[in-house]
Amino acid sequence: MTLLLLSTPERGKIWPRVFAEAGEDILVGEQAVHDPSAIEHIACWYPPKDLSVYTQLKTLISVGAGVDHLPALPEGIALSRTIAPGLEAMMRDWVVMATLMSHRDMPMYIAQARQGVWKAGSVAATGKRTVGILGMGRIGRLAAVSLLALGFRVRGWSLSGATVDDIEMFAADDLDVFLAGVDILVCLLPLTERTRGILGDALFGKLPRGARLVHAGRGGHLDMTALARALDDGQLASAILDVTEPEPLPAEHPFWNDPRIVITPHVAAQTDAREGAMHALAVIRAVREGRPIPGLVARERGY
Ligand code: GLV
Repeated sequence: MTLLLLSTPERGKIWPRVFAEAGEDILVGEQAVHDPSAIEHIACWYPPKDLSVYTQLKTLISVGAGVDHLPALPEGIALSRTIAPGLEAMMRDWVVMATLMSHRDMPMYIAQARQGVWKAGSVAATGKRTVGILGMGRIGRLAAVSLLALGFRVRGWSLSGATVDDIEMFAADDLDVFLAGVDILVCLLPLTERTRGILGDALFGKLPRGARLVHAGRGGHLDMTALARALDDGQLASAILDVTEPEPLPAEHPFWNDPRIVITPHVAAQTDAREGAMHALAVIRAVREGRPIPGLVARERGY
């Protein structure tokens, strides 16, 4: 069972070592493939242009947590997203950082500092604020536990109706009730047809006035014009974004100089090369042994 890796030069160096230690076959880069029918797994961020030449393909593995950038696959080819504890912990850290920054008015203080303005606002305890997490998968749950430990009130909204110990959970149909009590909204949703554009006028209008947005889902969730409107009329106080559409966000985009917005360039998390390789090995072994594939994406849900 040969795996074809299409990824960064760093992964191209580390994965073959991990595969050699495990006694598994790997090729790096399509130029290394002489017989496409020998490839049973492909791990990539950007897929090959023509997947149909890989006639024996069993799985396509996303080297990241998301799969929205990958094409719909023919029946018989499984899609797996990388499950990596290190990546999940990095996401949690970014969400905790951005939530604390939002809670402590850092977008405003950063803007004031650039102008040399010393002007104190009021400070609230974490226990006075409710953080609402859209998307309570592995990363959402990890973030929720840390935010609870910091004293925030935390609630979660789950598309799949998940329940999570110690967290007040809301089902898909209860989005409005969920939003009505949220001071800091964190988006960690997968991007699917159902969630595209969800961060828009209607949703912002259901938050309490002056709520703050923390977004580490995908650029496609966010209607950026609606965000600008919500900030301008005071419905939202600030936004911290790790994702935009397009990426990179063009240098002339007004968000860069907006004092209410802080942007990081899609760096909330990166998959560690060794961890990614370990996930791919786990996928290969599961396929070989007929066990459930780690990180299997449910076709009908899209995540
Ligand atoms: C990054 O956005 C990922 O999906 O891993």
